[in-house]
Order: sequence, then C-alpha cells, then structure tokens
Amino acid sequence: MSTSLASREAAVERAFGYPRLRYMGSKYRLIPALAEVFEEVGGSTALDAFSGSGVVSYLLKSMGYAVTSNDFLNFPGVIATATTVNNADRLTAADIATICGPAADDRDFIQQTFAGLYFNDDDRRFLDSAWSHIDTMSGNKRAVAISALVLSAARRQPRGVFTFTDSAKYNDGRRDLSISLREHFLEHAEKYNDSVFDNGQTHTAMTGDVFAVPTGFDVVYLDPPYAPPRDDADYMKRYHFLEGLSIYWRGQQIMDQTKTKKIAKKYTPFAYKRTAEEALRMAFKRFHESALVVSYSSNAVPDADTIVGLLREFKDNVTVRPIQHTYSFGTHAAATRRTVDEYLFIAT
Ligand SMILES: C[S@@+](CC[C@H](N)C(=O)[O-])C[C@H]1O[C@@H](n2cnc3c(N)ncnc32)[C@H](O)[C@@H]1O
Repeated sequence: MSTSLASREAAVERAFGYPRLRYMGSKYRLIPALAEVFEEVGGSTALDAFSGSGVVSYLLKSMGYAVTSNDFLNFPGVIATATTVNNADRLTAADIATICGPAADDRDFIQQTFAGLYFNDDDRRFLDSAWSHIDTMSGNKRAVAISALVLSAARRQPRGVFTFTDSAKYNDGRRDLSISLREHFLEHAEKYNDSVFDNGQTHTAMTGDVFAVPTGFDVVYLDPPYAPPRDDADYMKRYHFLEGLSIYWRGQQIMDQTKTKKIAKKYTPFAYKRTAEEALRMAFKRFHESALVVSYSSNAVPDADTIVGLLREFKDNVTVRPIQHTYSFGTHAAATRRTVDEYLFIAT
C-alpha cells in the first residue's frame, strides 16, 4: 500500500466525519496518531480485532486497507457493516420516510418491555414501528438503518449508557435529550448515508471472540477492554439496550430481575486483573505473524513495561508511544473526565 502524506490527511479528515457513537474506550480522538502509525507500518490488509464504535475500522478503510472488523458484541458488527463493509448502499428518501411512517405491523416488544425505563411512549412506539420496516430490509441497507437507530437511542439517552432508568435526573436540557427518537433517526440516517464510500477493496465484519478470528493480516490492531484497577470494563452493562436493539432482542436473554432489564454479560479475560496479562499474551501469540498495533491505557493492568515484555516474546521491534488523551469514562460523575496516558505499542 502506498499512502502519501496527503492521502493520510484526507483519511483523517474522512474519519473525523464518522457518525460518532459515545463508546467507552473509543479511539475517535486518537485518529491522527493511529493514522501516523498505520502509515508507518504499511501493508494492504488489516484486522480491527475489537472494533467497538467502528471508528478505527473506518479509518483503516479511509487509508486504503482491505479491512476485517470484529467484536464479540452484535451492534459493533452491524455498524462496521454499514460503514466499512458497505461500499455503495444508502437509504433512499423513500426508505427513510417508510421507516419513520406508520408501522407495518402491531409489534410492541419494546413498548411492553421497557415502559417507564427508557425514553417516552412515543419514542418506544417509534422503535417498534421502525423495526417493523427494518425487518423487511436486507444487506447493507438494513445495517445502515439499524446503525442509525442505535445511534439515535444512544444520543437520546443521557450519557449514552443504560446503567440507570431515572433519566430525568441526568437531563440537562441539551438538544439531544429533548428531540424525539424519530428526529434523531432522520438526522443519523443522513450521517450514515454520508459515510458510505468505496475504497476499491472488499471488507468483512465478524461477530465473535477474538480468538476465533482468522490470522494472516498485514496489520492487526488490538484495542481490548482494559482491566481497570477499580470499577469494571463491562460493555454489556452499559450498552445492553443498543445490543438488544441491534437485533430486536432476538436470541438475547434479558435478566428480568434487573432494574435496567439488561442482557447477561459476556465474559472476557481481558477485563480482569487476574487474567488480562495471559489474555494479551495469547492474543499477541495468535497474531504474531502480523505487524501489531496495540492500544492500552496507563490506568490499567498490566502496565506498559509488562506489555512491552509480552510483545518481545513474539516480535523483534517493539516501540511505545504515550499519548495524552482525555477519556470519557464510566457512569460516576467523579470519573467522567480523567486525563490518562494512552499507549500505542507498535511491534513489527
Ligand atoms: C476498548 S473497546 C474498543 C474500542 C474501539 N477501538 C473504538 O474505537 O470504538 C473494546 C471492545 O472489545 C470488545 N471485546 C471484549 N472482549 C472481547 C473478545 N474476547 N473478543 C472480541 N471482542 C471483545 C468489547 O465489546 C469492546 O467493544
């Protein structure tokens, strides 16, 4: 792959236009630093193994790579399908009008299940109604519609997390919290439409454990959950509503005894102090034939020296780049904005 400085700048600019989902550990702010690293590393195929919001997959696509995007949650795969796999399909004005119009059937799962918990009656009715149309769609277009619905729900919910149900307490009157979900959808459908482009390559989105992803990529970007000294890195606890919404809760086990009606969490060894180090070693081992780019926080376990040591078990050249980074973090007021060092490890 040959990326000139000009094309890197264009790629960064394009990635900054990516529809922005507030997601714990999202690397939106690291786009310029990551673009620099990917340009240095080169190659033509790339894996984003823990894709989350999908912004790094989209940056890689913008830089010209053939991208494989993976996450063990469902909604990151839907978003990566809409934005990275999708080279051409947009929602038409008629599609958007249909989704926002009268319902195609009388389904009411969301109205029944989440009454009084999230949003208002109109919003919940809209979600059921939108899904009555989305269920008739297929392929990339369906993914664009679901992505717009997911982003709408995330923006309409204070802080974008579903760890509490007394949302009035957090309503600071900002526009995102006062416009309807239907209005959100109209805006976000346009944003996802605008994100669609073709870089001349074919891309893949996968939903599964990182240890089930095939190997053989030129570059592998690893951005696992961090094992924090306190709290946890449970994505399902925060984003269960988005996960359920992305698949209309089909096949999902809602824990009925929970106040937030969350879905059971998925175990990952990366999120715990006891198991994180060995999980990282296994991930480095699995992808050791690729150039590795690894994100990790200084505010996590294991520390940077340990990660360098682990990478040296498999790679000859290991460098570390500390990056000052303001973090959106957690659900506690005191922890919402902390400055931490974000590390980028490059192993070739
Ligand atoms: C730090 S976030 C990635 C953020 C992403 N780079 C972004 O910019 O939005 C970590 C992601 O890893 C996913 N994850 C956790 N354990 C996993 C596993 N064992 N296999 C695949 N994905 C996993 C989580 O669902 C979460 O989306």
